Amino acid sequence: MAVTIAVLSQKGGTGKTTTVRTLTDVFRRIDLDVLAVDLDPQGNLSDYFDVPADADPTIADVLAGHVRAADATHGGIIPANLGLAEAELVLAGKMGREMTLRRALREASRRHEVVLIDCPPALGLLTVNAVVAADYALISTEAQYFSLQGVEQALEIIELAKENLHPDLEWLGVVLNIADLRTIHSREALAQLRERFGEAVFERVVRQSIRYAESAERGVSILDYRPELGEDYLALAAEVLERVGMEEERGRVAELRAELVPA
Ligand SMILES: Nc1ncnc2c1ncn2[C@@H]1O[C@H](COP(=O)(O)OP(=O)(O)OP(=O)(O)O)[C@@H](O)[C@H]1O
Ligand SMILES: [Mg+2]
Repeated sequence: MAVTIAVLSQKGGTGKTTTVRTLTDVFRRIDLDVLAVDLDPQGNLSDYFDVPADADPTIADVLAGHVRAADATHGGIIPANLGLAEAELVLAGKMGREMTLRRALREASRRHEVVLIDCPPALGLLTVNAVVAADYALISTEAQYFSLQGVEQALEIIELAKENLHPDLEWLGVVLNIADLRTIHSREALAQLRERFGEAVFERVVRQSIRYAESAERGVSILDYRPELGEDYLALAAEVLERVGMEEERGRVAELRAELVPA
């Protein structure tokens, strides 16, 4: 069975989609079979992976029970578009609404090694579906003044899901994303996070850089566009693999790093 990880945050623009996209890149480069699931009606992940806008069927059809996940997989990604907003409304009126994605991905989970789910910037039914479908929940947060509260709220959803729906769900940790550690403000946010959540905070902080927007615009992975920055994601990927117990794969990230980032 695949290791399934949902990336969530209460706020928008915390780097969730970039995290899913880049971790997918890293994992694929170490020869893992990754299924990336776009669970955000904005469809940003689908855009990042250049899935055509009219790709059909999508995750909305999977949640509606019209098609199997495999039929909605286009080049290793299940895309989303605005139709997902409507599908969420329909889903809200159904029995077992929180378990729908979990059921839908069961078969896909046998066919892939890692499943990464990109959540919308809200802690609603879609995000609940994502964490219930996942083995691990990874919180992404920006280094902002209110970020601690956002993390607490995301954690609450994880706890609720654990208590009521999915006792085996594990919190993988929280990554400080899009951070400029040259500012006191960001360093304080990091210190606060570490004080509050200790080891759950990933050691590696993803640095803020305009290169991310550029690389997204050009459709080039940050790993190729600016490997010295992409290095943050290599380190994050290694920590993730360690936390999910994939030690051998973690070794392969070190090899990839040696290839991509000249000493
Ligand atoms: N490390 C970074 N440094 C600077 N900009 C970044 C970084 N990572 C991502 N970005 C940019 O910040 C914006 C938000 O990133 P992203 O889309 O990954 O966040 P998100 O949490 O998925 O947003 P949303 O909540 O809207 O889905 C994008 O324009 C992206 O290119
Ligand atoms: Mg996003």
